[in-house]
Order: sequence, then structure tokens, then C-alpha cells
Amino acid sequence: MSSGELRNKFLEFFEKRGHKIVPSSSLIPDDPSVLLTTAGMQQFKKYYTGEADPIKDFGAQNVASIQKSFRTSDIDEVGDESHLTFFEMLGHFSFGDYFKKETIEWTYELLTDVFRIAPERISATVFAGDEKIPFDKESYDAWAEFLPSERIRKGSRADNIWGPAGPEGPCGAANEVYVDNLEVATLVFMEYFCAKDQSLTPLPQKGVDVGWGFERLAMIVQGKKNIFETDLFEPLWRFLPTRLAEKTRRVIADHARGISSLISDGVRPSNKEAGYILRRLIRRLAVYKVENIDSVFKAIVENYSGFYPELDQGAILSVVNLELEKFNETVYRGLEKLEKLEKIDAGLAFMLYESYGLPYEIIKEIGQTKAEYLTRDDFDKELGLHREISRAGAEKKFGGHGLLLDTGELKAASEEELKKVTRLHTATHLLQAALRKVLGDGVRQAGSDITAERTRFDFTFDRKLTDEELKKVENLVNWAVSRKFDVRMQEMSYEEAVRSGVLHFFKEKYPPTVKVYSVGDFKADLSAGEGPTDIFSRELCGGPHVKNTSEIGRFKISKQEPLGSGLRRIRATAIQI
Ligand code: ALA
Repeated sequence: MSSGELRNKFLEFFEKRGHKIVPSSSLIPDDPSVLLTTAGMQQFKKYYTGEADPIKDFGAQNVASIQKSFRTSDIDEVGDESHLTFFEMLGHFSFGDYFKKETIEWTYELLTDVFRIAPERISATVFAGDEKIPFDKESYDAWAEFLPSERIRKGSRADNIWGPAGPEGPCGAANEVYVDNLEVATLVFMEYFCAKDQSLTPLPQKGVDVGWGFERLAMIVQGKKNIFETDLFEPLWRFLPTRLAEKTRRVIADHARGISSLISDGVRPSNKEAGYILRRLIRRLAVYKVENIDSVFKAIVENYSGFYPELDQGAILSVVNLELEKFNETVYRGLEKLEKLEKIDAGLAFMLYESYGLPYEIIKEIGQTKAEYLTRDDFDKELGLHREISRAGAEKKFGGHGLLLDTGELKAASEEELKKVTRLHTATHLLQAALRKVLGDGVRQAGSDITAERTRFDFTFDRKLTDEELKKVENLVNWAVSRKFDVRMQEMSYEEAVRSGVLHFFKEKYPPTVKVYSVGDFKADLSAGEGPTDIFSRELCGGPHVKNTSEIGRFKISKQEPLGSGLRRIRATAIQI
């Protein structure tokens, strides 16, 4: 049975039983409390709570759909037999009409009569009960009509209470349905509204929310060993190079499907929320340097647009290629850095993310044994910690007042502070240049934070600096100040800037035209035959900067600190004299 036939059989089955067929909703849900659509029920939340009337909207109390869904929760499992980020969910839903008995009967009928699965392969779980919600005897009894008791297991809250999707919403006892050891469907019986504080109140009416994993069902019906062998993925393989490991090819196929749908539904790469999810998927592809990646996307559009006409080949190709171009420069430097590291802990992983944009999945995969003890939990904690530190710093300092300037790196609350951070900003460029002159090109900016009081500069370097080195760096900055160097800004294309070898630091996105700030002796103008120009520092940067280094004042390093292996931090001030 082809996947196309499966789709039709499922929808026909429920259409015949009083369900209105509703199209898939977008991957970007109406509900602002969730990032992406993770289940078929998402578009129907308000029919369970009684806020909307299904008869008025659909002319029926029951609906069925095939919903595009996206979950990041399984991203680390993608590439095994059965996990995906983007998947399709076959669903049927009731808002106050039928309940457990009919749902379980239909589920069994579909499995055995329609999909022709041998009864002895089927098993189910039901909720065992706890202090808040009782044992789901009604489901147990309904399953007992079909299955021997050893194939009906009682499960805990974690597996057998489903919902809410988002911070609050309808929820209820769930049955998991298995074929062999693979879960193929979840039957949710909506009975409560689960509030943000976890309290439960009964819904005005009972509801049903059933979701089947389409790819898993196709795998079973088509007698395949894993979802990637089904006809849903088959057309993609010939475009994926065999030099890549099987698992990698699967990851690319999964991510390419997700990327296609996210872009077609309007998501664009960014550093937050759904945009960041998309960015991570595209970056993972970038690492494998797939030749002619366009053909993979074209194959996806060709194979799925019959069911999802919104797939937009033009948008997919242009967004992906732009992001790949932008990422390539930094990713290869990040991968080189990763090569050199011996052991990658959460602190170093964060540095690779922050400086080179390498997402956790890539670090884990490319790092292999170097990163074997790195966990997503620790990485997320590190990420949260850095966000908290910068947030707490900003709030404490400005007491919640508006900022005159906040570039992320520079913060100033008044004109006077603006002048100070501008001086410290130029001083920070001189500091990076001086560090590289004294310690070598291994020094690279990993982060910086500038307030009116001080600059804080994080950089890659794997040992403590000696007092002598610190002094040398400080003296070199003060020398550049005493030379009264001019600071000049030139605008050029990003590619041109990168080619010319200016220092740049990974940021979420560089505009096509960027600013390059140079500090040095421009009086010696080569073109006028006056001898070589003497450039002290050259960096891609958004500004603002002073016009001349003499405005900076006396530069003083106040402290050096370790920041986990491979990274150090320097704090410094500049006092006007
Ligand atoms: N809403 C249920 C699920 O996502 C069906 O598993």
C-alpha cells in the first residue's frame, strides 16, 4: 500500500463515520504560546474548551486531518529507525460526540481490517491511575474486547496522560497503541483543562484527539525495517551522496523535509524561536557539504506538493542558499577550532556556538568521542546561564530604564554613558589587536560586553597570561593611544570584507554591506607614494567608535579570568587624562 493510498484510506474511513475532513494547518500556529505545530489537535484547541463551535465552523462535531507537525524533542534521535523532526500526523477528533469505546473499536478495525496488521502484533497501554486522575477502566475494558490482558499494560502519568500542548490547554488520559515494539498511535481522551499552575478543571464536554504517526504506519504497512525505507523517503536517496554515512543521509533527508515546510509556511532563519530552529537545521546540512543540495529540495517539492500545495520551491532554494553562504565562512573556522580541542565540555561547546554558530547537534556529531560526555542538558544550562548573566547585568545596571544604546555588546543609558562606551569600544578593538600581536593569531574574540564602567573581552587562549604578557598588551594599547591614530570606517560587501582578512566575529546575521573599522597611521598613503600605511587594527563592526585614539585615555587591564578550558576573559577600563 503506497503512502498515498494510506492517506486516502484513513481519511475515507473517518469521512464515512461522520467526520469532516479539514486541511492541515500551518506549522506556525495561531496560538502564540507555542512555537510550532506539534500535533494535529493544535488547530482544534478551542473546540475542546467550548470557546468555538465545530458545527458552525465545520458543519460537524467530528473532524479528521493529516497535519504537518514539527518536534525538536526527538532531534537527537533522528537517524535511528523511527524518529523525525518533521512528520505527518493522521488524526481524528471529536468535540463532545463519541468517546473511548468507539475510538478504540475504530483503532482496532483500522489496524486489522484496513491496514491488515496481524492481531498478535498489537498491544496498548492505558493510564494506571494516581491521586489526581483515576485508573482508565473504560479504556481498559474496551481494549479487553480485542486484546488478551498481557497485551494491555497499565502506564504512568508520563506516558498515559497527554497534554496540554503549550503552557495550558485541554488534556486527559491517553492510550498508546503499539505494533510490535513501535508506538504508532496515541488516543487522547480530553476531559480536563490543564492550567499553567498544573491544576485540572473538567472541560464542558468530553473530547477525543487521536494521532497516528504517518511515517511509522507506512513503515509497518509497507513491511520496512525503518521509516526511511518507505516510499515517503525513497525518492530522496539518489540525490544524497553515498560517501556519507547512512545515519547522516537520514538526518539530511529529515532536515530537508522540515526546512522545506518551515520556509514554505513563512519561517525565516534567525537567532530566536522558530527562526533559530530553522537555522539549526540548515547549518547541520551545511556541515556535510552536499553537492547540489538543490536537487534534494526539488525532489521534496515534487513528491509532496500534491498534498501540500503551499510548498514554495523558489523560497526554499533562495532562503537555504543564502543561509548556507552566510554560514560557510564561520562554520569552517568553527570546525577547525573544534578539531584542535581535545575534550569538549559545556563551556567550550558554548564558545563554539557563540563564536562560530555551531549548534549543539553539530558539536556532538563532529566532536564524537571528544564530546562524548557533553549533554544537551548541560549545554542548555550553559546557554541559560549566559543569557541570565547578561540580562541580570543589564537590568541591575539600568534598573529597568530605557537604554539609549543597546547593541547587545554595548549598553548606554545616557549621552554621557554613550561617550564612555564609545571610547571603551575602540579600546576593545585595540585590545584584541594587541593580544594577537603579543600572543599570536590563536586569539579570537569569543564575546564582549561594554558598559560605561568597563569593557569585558572574552577570547580563545588556553592558558593564563603571565604578568609580563599582560603588561605588554596594556602598553601596546597605550602606545596606540599615544600615537593618536585615526579611526576610519569603510563600507564594503561582506564577502569583500571577509576576503580582505579583517577580523570578524560570528553574529546572527551580517547585512550584505558591512562596515570595517580600521585604526592606524593613514598619513602614509601608499597611492600618494608616501610609504606604507600602518594599520594597527582592522575589524568588521557596527560601531560606534571614537574618531581618534587620543580620545580613549589611559587604558588599564584590571583583571584576567579563566572561562572554562580554552577561553579567557579580560576586564579593562579607560580613564581620560
Ligand atoms: N495529541 C496526541 C499526540 O500528539 C495525539 O500524540
